[in-house]
Amino acid sequence: MSTLHLWRNARVTTLAGDSPWGLIEDGALLTRDDTLLWVGQATALPHEHRAHIAQETDLGGALVTPGLIDCHTHLVYGGQRANEFELRLQGASYEDIARAGGGIRSTVAATRAASDASLLSSATRRAKVLMADGVTTLEVKSGYGLSELHEGRCLAIARALGASLPLTVRTTYLAAHALPQEFSGRADDYIDAACEWLPRLHAQGLVDAVDAFCDTIGFTPAQTRRVFDTAKALGLPVKLHAEQLSNQGGAALAASYGALSCDHLEFLDVSGVQAMSQAGTVAVLLPGAYYFLRDTHLPPIAQLREHGVAMALATDHNPGSSPGLSLLLMLNMACTLFRLTPEEALRGVTVHAARALGLADRGQLVGGQRADFCVWNLDHPNELAYWFGHNPCMRVVVAGKERTHG
Ligand code: NIG
Ligand code: FE
Repeated sequence: MSTLHLWRNARVTTLAGDSPWGLIEDGALLTRDDTLLWVGQATALPHEHRAHIAQETDLGGALVTPGLIDCHTHLVYGGQRANEFELRLQGASYEDIARAGGGIRSTVAATRAASDASLLSSATRRAKVLMADGVTTLEVKSGYGLSELHEGRCLAIARALGASLPLTVRTTYLAAHALPQEFSGRADDYIDAACEWLPRLHAQGLVDAVDAFCDTIGFTPAQTRRVFDTAKALGLPVKLHAEQLSNQGGAALAASYGALSCDHLEFLDVSGVQAMSQAGTVAVLLPGAYYFLRDTHLPPIAQLREHGVAMALATDHNPGSSPGLSLLLMLNMACTLFRLTPEEALRGVTVHAARALGLADRGQLVGGQRADFCVWNLDHPNELAYWFGHNPCMRVVVAGKERTHG
């Protein structure tokens, strides 16, 4: 028998409807099991539900938002790259380090050498840090294994993370992330191999989406196309690390495959913006990587806005270009560095991040959505993008159940 739980005395940032932030003062949320049954002004709670309320929680007038969604991370890896950070501070570029065999390849070596248990425990530690500031859905990419065995291992660890923690984990196959040592000079052969592994890993239930790194130090548009053709034949959605370090026309290519998202986009041009707009592809902006690589080439925010491209935000957590573990900090950075409005920033880690993952059941607080929400020690939702370096998250509810920290 399902029971109803009323969460009352809240200022609810629904992100639905036409009013700014979809804010409801004197709001309440009614959950049935893992789902929001109703959200609205407390006085408007429908009579037919009142008699069935079995549990009530007074939120003390606190601010409530949808659970946060980190839609782009590389959370499963071994080692770290603080030495490369030092090299970059002395003048080496990210590309120089990658071409000299460091960068992604050095993390591949550390990941292959790490045991399953240590990969799972380091990823769990990182996921808990993200969860502490309100993350309830997390995407995790492979891409540091670069062999069938090790890509499969990393994806299985991401699945294990989702099974052991109170959050949703979505997995993305990113074998086309870098060329592993053993395929040096044979990028096309490597893409052949990556396309052979995908159906087998998918058959094991390890893959929700497929990504590639289309850039000068990644793969060409033609190679990206072959990965996408394989994904499409399996019915898997695609996304792309596009126009991060140069303009390869990757965004338009991904849009032609109906990509869920194109991510990074510092070098996106107007034809890419138009293609994404027509395809309904989400732009995932990654201010942490922009900041940490000391980039100066801004993504074309005004054009994305003008063409109505939905903008999401994510941590891009990885050991090379974005070692941060706070999605809230990304809200602040997106406003200060990219000039997003605080409301755009919050939509970027909720409703638009959900779209970037192809999830229609979350991201807004309305009846019928999953009961994932955060309770904040804040007065107004614009404060989420304002404070940084401390955590105002008081409570998190996942699938209707309160999550305890730790
Ligand atoms: O999203 N650009 C490609 N991939 C990652 C960085 C990977 C790494 O440096 O280890 C990114 O920035
Ligand atoms: Fe990334």
